[in-house]
Amino acid sequence: TWTMAGFREMEIARIRQQVGKGRVICGLSGGVDSSVAAVLIHQAIGDQLTCIFVDPGILRAGEADEVIRTFRDRFNIHLIHRDASDLFLNALEGVSDPEIKRKTIGRLFIEVFEEEAAKLGGAEFLAQGTLYPDVIESVSFTGGPSVTIKSHHNVGGLPERMKMQLVEPLRELFKDEVRELGREMDIPEAIVGRHPFPGPGLAIRIPGAITREKLDLLRRVDSIFLEEIRAAGLYDAIWQAFAVLLPVRTVGVMGDGRTYDYACALRAVTSTDGMTADVYPFDMSFLNRVAGRIVNEVRGVNRVTYDITSKPPGTIEWE
Ligand code: XMP
Repeated sequence: TWTMAGFREMEIARIRQQVGKGRVICGLSGGVDSSVAAVLIHQAIGDQLTCIFVDPGILRAGEADEVIRTFRDRFNIHLIHRDASDLFLNALEGVSDPEIKRKTIGRLFIEVFEEEAAKLGGAEFLAQGTLYPDVIESVSFTGGPSVTIKSHHNVGGLPERMKMQLVEPLRELFKDEVRELGREMDIPEAIVGRHPFPGPGLAIRIPGAITREKLDLLRRVDSIFLEEIRAAGLYDAIWQAFAVLLPVRTVGVMGDGRTYDYACALRAVTSTDGMTADVYPFDMSFLNRVAGRIVNEVRGVNRVTYDITSKPPGTIEWE
């Protein structure tokens, strides 16, 4: 019978056979997929693996530090950290079209990754945490045959340009199976149970052009929402929860004064693979508490809405 322990043994053998004495580089994002892929490959080939973590400046609060601490210190994986925030934020200045945002970010990830790989003297193999749904969606997305709904930048592009062979140990798995595999390898629950986070990061959660100021507001709103979700014990019941900073200012009242600040939307969905999703039915009292905290603690945001659109017809992310 098929077990996750058996799968792990089989994949480790397969990775060793594919890679031989070659060198593998792996782009690490801190998400579940690349984390599980990196740890699995590290178990197979140890120091033949080098991870490259590109910080694009569009991650959530505290995320970059956490990635470094976890992989370098806890797993002893050779990790290169490149802070590319300025590069990304400058390139995204004034860009408001979602597809141009995605393509710009995808291109920069590739460029920076290539630069860092070149500094290492190159490698024969490129590891990716590609999952089964990624393979499917990059061929035909949920909108019908051959219609590109969104350009995912984690599949394709890089390997052809870099003339590297792909190592994709998760490409037959769904998300829940990847989590099970991660637990099998004693990866901490904080990583294994983590909600998915898109490659283009917070840039696609700020409709319109992104600015450092908007990123800062969104990070604070998002942290409060997730903090309350964790405190209420709801994190594991939700597939993904996040905030979107809307490009709209609305009038509010605070004390005796008028405010004219940004509105935000909260989104939380349940799903098994991200291809379809249902809205998470929070209690009104929970939403009230979160909204109260956001408006009181984040100066610059004075209105909170909850997105009640399922997928389809909506998508999970707003862009
Ligand atoms: P949508 O918004 O298309 O998202 O319903 C489905 C799932 O995919 C994630 N997502 C991405 N993940 N690179 C990624 O690695 C991307 O470019 C990307 N775009 C969306 C999204 O967060 C959701 O889990």
